Amino acid sequence: MSLLKIERLRVLFRSGNRIVKANNSIDLEVMENEIIGIIGETGCGKSILGRAIMTLLSENTEVSGKIIYKGEDLLSLSENKLRDIRGKNISIILQNPSAALNPVFSIGDQISEVFQYHDKMSKQNAEIKTAGILEMVGIDPCRMREFPHQFSGGMKQRIMIAMGMAFSPELLIADEPTKGLDPDTKKSIINLLNRLVRSRNMSMILITHDLDVAEKMCDRIAVMYAGEIIELAPVCDILAEPGHPYTQVLLRSLPKKGLRSISGESPSLSSPPSGCRFHPRCEYVMDICKQEHPELFFTDTGTEVRCFLYNGGQDQS
Ligand SMILES: Nc1ncnc2c1ncn2[C@@H]1O[C@H](COP(=O)(O)OP(=O)(O)OP(=O)(O)O)[C@@H](O)[C@H]1O
Ligand SMILES: [Mg+2]
Repeated sequence: MSLLKIERLRVLFRSGNRIVKANNSIDLEVMENEIIGIIGETGCGKSILGRAIMTLLSENTEVSGKIIYKGEDLLSLSENKLRDIRGKNISIILQNPSAALNPVFSIGDQISEVFQYHDKMSKQNAEIKTAGILEMVGIDPCRMREFPHQFSGGMKQRIMIAMGMAFSPELLIADEPTKGLDPDTKKSIINLLNRLVRSRNMSMILITHDLDVAEKMCDRIAVMYAGEIIELAPVCDILAEPGHPYTQVLLRSLPKKGLRSISGESPSLSSPPSGCRFHPRCEYVMDICKQEHPELFFTDTGTEVRCFLYNGGQDQS
């Protein structure tokens, strides 16, 4: 069953005369009990997509399209309704835990505030709940009076997970939850997230640079390039037989450890290339790719690929 359906999502930032098209025609459906990985080069719009779903974008942003959750378009809900949904039904673990945690409040205060706000709990009850979820993520509840700087990177990430999971949301968006962690810590964070998400039948959007992590955790993978999803397929299919020329190079250049940039210049999001945004770097480029923007086409195996190679070189739009 479908949990969240994103239709034709577009996110633009205006700064002066410049318009940054950070997300363009994003169509993505997240099913119940599904983990979807979002991968792609730095700056391609992964975090913006996560923040757009949480309706957490800054004032200078123009968002269009639909984000349907339980029959309602999140983009048309009032801020009050959104505040109820955020954290409780859909929550996000932001990309950088050090920046996301407030340095002047103890971690216990920061977590218990979530319970006090959403469940209108007394401080005392909220602290009991906080102790429980700290324990759940492997942090000794005795440490709840300590401040963020007293915790290691991996522990801060556990605290972020505790906050994200506080209400067992139906959808968790985890933005680079293993970035900068050493291999052992990374493994324990993956195991923790996997166990919590799977045992509670939640869905997750996992944004990562790390294919190892994506392979271990995800059911499907969406590959992003220059603000667009250019390939969407089950994880085993995409790794065994990547369809889009960009995914092919990305995986070829791949180190097991993570994604590296591929050769050629990353496209500007304020003036992206005409036609297919990948065409200046594509080894299979055809005339049509320079002129027309490809839709997502289905391949024989059911993978969705934004590439004219899968449309017999003919535009169907
Ligand atoms: N507030 C903003 N105003 C203008 N441009 C922005 C703003 N926030 C993000 N951008 C731009 O939007 C684009 C996408 O950013 P985003 O943070 O989603 O990238 P990302 O794929 O998450 O990259 P990384 O892998 O490095 O985290 C970038 O080019 C970024 O510079
Ligand atoms: Mg990011």
